[in-house]
Amino acid sequence: MNRNDTTARIAHVFRGTFVHSTPRAAVEILQNCVLGVDDKGKIAFIEKHQDVVSLLEIWGFETSDIKQLGQYEFLMPGMVDTHIHASQYSYAGTALDLPLLEWLNTYTFPVEAKYKDLDFANDVYTKVVRRTLKNGTTTACYFATIHTDASLLLGELADRFGQRALVGKVCMDCNSAVPQYKESPSECKEETDRFIKELLKKEYPNVKPVVTPRFAPSCSSSLLSELGEIANNNKLHVQSHISENKEEVELVKTLFPGCKSYTDVYLKHNLLTDRTIMAHGCHLTDEELEIFRETGSAVSHCPNSNISICSGMLNVRNVLNHKVKLGLGTDVAGGYSPSMLDAMRRTLDTSKALTIQDPQHKTLSFEEVFRLATLGGSEALSLDDQIGNFVVGKDFDALRVNVCVPDGPIDLFPGEGPKVILEKFLNLGDDRNITEVYMAGRRVVPFPDT
Ligand code: GUN
Ligand code: ZN
Repeated sequence: MNRNDTTARIAHVFRGTFVHSTPRAAVEILQNCVLGVDDKGKIAFIEKHQDVVSLLEIWGFETSDIKQLGQYEFLMPGMVDTHIHASQYSYAGTALDLPLLEWLNTYTFPVEAKYKDLDFANDVYTKVVRRTLKNGTTTACYFATIHTDASLLLGELADRFGQRALVGKVCMDCNSAVPQYKESPSECKEETDRFIKELLKKEYPNVKPVVTPRFAPSCSSSLLSELGEIANNNKLHVQSHISENKEEVELVKTLFPGCKSYTDVYLKHNLLTDRTIMAHGCHLTDEELEIFRETGSAVSHCPNSNISICSGMLNVRNVLNHKVKLGLGTDVAGGYSPSMLDAMRRTLDTSKALTIQDPQHKTLSFEEVFRLATLGGSEALSLDDQIGNFVVGKDFDALRVNVCVPDGPIDLFPGEGPKVILEKFLNLGDDRNITEVYMAGRRVVPFPDT
């Protein structure tokens, strides 16, 4: 028992089955345990029920207030979406018929240009925050658009609805087919400074800015350098895209002839640190992965998008073998689904497709993929000291899962134990099974207004 902070009161206690990952086990299932959450939203204890029950009353917690989970219920850590474009949610599920560079110019930039209008931004951003929370995403690493005020609004909405978020005002100063959808280099720097300053001034406890060069082809070398400096001076996260499709990799070679590789472009502009997360990485070489490992930078694997716009298939096993941090991303709207359950399924599908191509390839297990969606994501965002699993002292970000809801998507059969129940939820479940969502100890789903 480790309950050092004697000033904190116990706010919630749950009893039942807890499923999470640890550094040693991709899935650890704890049955008949109790988990206590203090009034600061942190996990105060997680113990076998009989070891703690007599202490609860000493701490002034009525045992009758224990939330008892049912036979087909469990708690799991909230899921971490390490890459999602909040601004693209308005067309999620459509417009998947072009490869990346054409897709950006034809669909993405014209839609993103509309976020000058704060009413439009408010409508889409409210919907994406609520949708992803309902789907169990307690932490999201968001791309917004180039518009500072709309990006600040996204931060405000994440805070209001109770989602932990990194929010990025997008920076791009070249190669946009939509003339009004780019900034001058000086505007980009000034607006990024303003965005960071204003978002930090709000003192939202769980919403922070992330420096966001869109990707190398959209940014001049001087803009990339400015952004590297801003991120390093302020110790901020960085997010961007890398090596998503082959045409893009070739384009980067021509745009940055002095750099050895796509990774070298970001390295040379001081954008690779242990707070950096790069989406896709389908075509990274082993040499480039070594640079990721050395700098502590992470990859966000976005399998739905990689398949939907035919970008490539990331070999996650190879990335993990290189000891590079890796999380999963929905990449809405190159990815059509705003659900991390879908990201897990597409991760398994991609891994199986690689095994079909090469029987020597070691397919990922559902347990490994569960880890990537929770603890792995927290590591990729360097938030694993705060979230990712049920460890005393971490914030209580959790999903209450019930696999047996009326008219739900899962049928159970006699003799199925907790591991089978978890596997069925990961493969068959949806938001109907996620009956409650907690972020930093606060219950955020069901929404207070419903
Ligand atoms: N590369 C640069 N911008 C984007 C984007 O918005 N989506 C995806 N999938 N790739 C990108
Ligand atoms: Zn993306």
